Amino acid sequence: MALRVLVVPGSLRADSWNRKLAGVAADAVRAAGGEATLVNLRDFDLPMFDEDCEKAQGMPEGGKKLKELFATHPAHVYCSPEYNSSISGVLKNAIDWASRGAAGEPPLVAFRGKVAALLSTSPGALGGLRGLVHLRSILGNIGVLVLPDQVAVMKSHEAFDAQGQLKDARQAESVKKLAAELVRTASRLTS
Ligand code: FNR
Repeated sequence: MALRVLVVPGSLRADSWNRKLAGVAADAVRAAGGEATLVNLRDFDLPMFDEDCEKAQGMPEGGKKLKELFATHPAHVYCSPEYNSSISGVLKNAIDWASRGAAGEPPLVAFRGKVAALLSTSPGALGGLRGLVHLRSILGNIGVLVLPDQVAVMKSHEAFDAQGQLKDARQAESVKKLAAELVRTASRLTS
């Protein structure tokens, strides 16, 4: 059975560059033999995490659905915008909700033992690289094996063509390589 890979763009913006990059990454996962599920965090009802609300109302339906998706995919791809040299609040909020436990399940069921690949793009010269340092740390601390290689695409406003593909062949190749490495590594660990 094909390896299931959840692809998560960390932006809600309709014209998000990171969503375009996530589309490229999802295609690369499929080309590498994986089965990609590309999500839009806007489709999940995820209020700002608040322990008081969690205590009073439990996990919102959107949080349950998203956590289930993380849990049922052995590999994850993150395409994170860089906001003030870190990841977007939207992505951190989604990770925080999905990290919450429920009775009768092992801790961090959505993350522990998963394999992840990180990508980012931004209009800046570093392509969101600084945010990935934080994302790598967050995911590593909740038990995710994050691949050493990553892709940061600079000058996002110049990087994509009208079809949402990366114009630069070397960049496109580096996304393919990263996706292939993810599928290879996660398949070995789950076999
Ligand atoms: C940004 N942006 C940004 N870019 C960057 O390279 N480094 C940074 O630290 C920041 N900081 C930052 C903070 C805030 C609050 C916003 C709204 C934006 C610019 C950001 O990369 C740009 O808006 C991207 O287009 C966001 O990603 P999406 O939505 O296109 O995927």
